[in-house]
Amino acid sequence: MDKEIMSSVESFYSEVAVEPKPTLCCPTSYKEEDVSHIPTEAREISYGCGSPMGLADIREGEKVLDLGSGGGIDCFIASRKVGKTGSVVGVDMTDEMLAKARKASVKVAANLGYGNVEFKKGLLEDIPVGSGAVDLVTSNCVVNLSTDKALVLREIHRALKHKGRFCISDIVSEKEVPEGMRADKKLWGECISGAIEEKKFLAMAREAGFYGLHIVSKFLYRVVEGMRFYSITLKGYKFEKGPECLYKGHYAVYNGPFSSVSDDDGHDYPVGIPVEVCTDTLEKLKGPPYRGLFTIIDTRGKLEAVPCRPRETEKTPGGGGSSCC
Ligand SMILES: C[S@@+](CC[C@H](N)C(=O)[O-])C[C@H]1O[C@@H](n2cnc3c(N)ncnc32)[C@H](O)[C@@H]1O
Repeated sequence: MDKEIMSSVESFYSEVAVEPKPTLCCPTSYKEEDVSHIPTEAREISYGCGSPMGLADIREGEKVLDLGSGGGIDCFIASRKVGKTGSVVGVDMTDEMLAKARKASVKVAANLGYGNVEFKKGLLEDIPVGSGAVDLVTSNCVVNLSTDKALVLREIHRALKHKGRFCISDIVSEKEVPEGMRADKKLWGECISGAIEEKKFLAMAREAGFYGLHIVSKFLYRVVEGMRFYSITLKGYKFEKGPECLYKGHYAVYNGPFSSVSDDDGHDYPVGIPVEVCTDTLEKLKGPPYRGLFTIIDTRGKLEAVPCRPRETEKTPGGGGSSCC
């Protein structure tokens, strides 16, 4: 971690927490019904670049962790979506942001009739929550500000439960940001200098252990010195593999519309061809983001009994191959 950059980012955000800076606000549009319970003091220091809470398919009762929560706008949106049985933790390193967010949370709780949001001081690089603690991690225009994005993504993976997910809005660059621009502290604070290429961001997320990565929103954010910067919202999923991966007679048939697809574990699924899958792969294909793309055929009890067998790659009578991870 580069302490000098971190401290300049902190002083940048402590200033814009106290004195709202409308020109820093990215073109983020929130639905009025999502923000009507949030006081102006929190809304006017919203510096996000996307709408992760609107795209994260939040369910009642979920535990949500928002990183770089700032004035708290996304935490408050999530607070309503998860309801009183759910909970939301916002983490930020800047005292002035935390103070404003905590103050606003009292009004939000009064408007909703319950309080389920907590703000913690901490770093993205050392997230102050236990391992496997939350269903969903969100972040809105923050990861670009970190000088150790790989560590941040590993921390997000650690904080998530098995089958948890992240939904992150952030800025990416069309190509590598040149040294001169990276040294510009104001541009760093404005979410430009710390941006990395989208393919690098995805590679880091995959390296951290996530699968099913996909972009759910993308638009041109700014052009600086002729270079394009985009706002993207990326989703990814955590899956902890079981102690053993067994074939129990399940086949996955890819429904199309493409002629074939491959998953993160290297399995190929030609359209319409049954591919035998192990129990771990079956679990993944039944849930998001793959749900609905495959028809699962369960042959248990319908074919001659075959003993469960561990990892293998032989061809199957269904026409496809068996696949394991
Ligand atoms: C661009 S603002 C976004 C705030 C909020 N997500 C929103 O949408 O309004 C970035 C926020 O991330 C915080 N931040 C930046 N780097 C951080 C880090 N490494 N650890 C914790 N917080 C960080 C800043 O203090 C600031 O509040």
